[in-house]
Amino acid sequence: MVRKKLIAGNWKMNCLSAEGSALAKDVATAVKNNKFDCDFLVCPPFTLLTTVKKCLRGSKISLGAQDVHFADKGAHTGDISSLMLKDLGCSHVIIGHSERRVDHFETDELVNKKAVAAHNTGIVTVICIGETGEQRDNGETIKVCESQIMGSVPDDATAKNTVIAYEPIWAIGTGKTPTAADVEEVHAAIRKTLAKKLGKATANKMRILYGGSVKPNNAAELLSLPDVDGALIGGASLKAEDFINIAKNACK
Ligand code: 13P
Repeated sequence: MVRKKLIAGNWKMNCLSAEGSALAKDVATAVKNNKFDCDFLVCPPFTLLTTVKKCLRGSKISLGAQDVHFADKGAHTGDISSLMLKDLGCSHVIIGHSERRVDHFETDELVNKKAVAAHNTGIVTVICIGETGEQRDNGETIKVCESQIMGSVPDDATAKNTVIAYEPIWAIGTGKTPTAADVEEVHAAIRKTLAKKLGKATANKMRILYGGSVKPNNAAELLSLPDVDGALIGGASLKAEDFINIAKNACK
């Protein structure tokens, strides 16, 4: 099964307008000037979606947000709906990132509701899962990931509207990564769980990204694993050169 790799940048809560525009323009230029056998996605903060959309015009890079509310509209102060994201030109949204699960107490049930809302609006979801360091030490990684997949992924998710991102929490922003063998073991287990939930055909087509300290120097190894279909990149997506070098090393 050939799954085209997805190289996705999660800018998190970083960049004001000048910095964000420069970063988006540099990435767009580099993507245009190189031939990559992969798809690209950038997910700036809400405040920069319109600015970045303009900078990406004419490029094949998709635009995504980092969160969404499950309702279409209404009395939800401070929240953003999937219709609003679509209106701004977003094709993707990250949902259930561990930083939201921790900072905003998001549960699998809530993540699932958000994903349903995004899918109903025609937005592709990048649904994040991953274990804490403690869960890993207790040998619970696969159990935790299975349970997050079962709870967070809508029952009618398809390979077209859903991407999974496995992000071990202890690897995020730490410079630590699991071994390649560990990453492949977890990704294969995730695909098995997706098959149980959505059927084998869908599971085989669905992209599963790895995230957590992906850098230009480890991308080739991690992204060559059979069940790793791309990367969700935090810190290294804030430097155009690093972000592009990850793609160069892993997708050329
Ligand atoms: P880092 O690449 O900075 O470890 O972040 C990963 C991440 O959380 C992407 O969503």
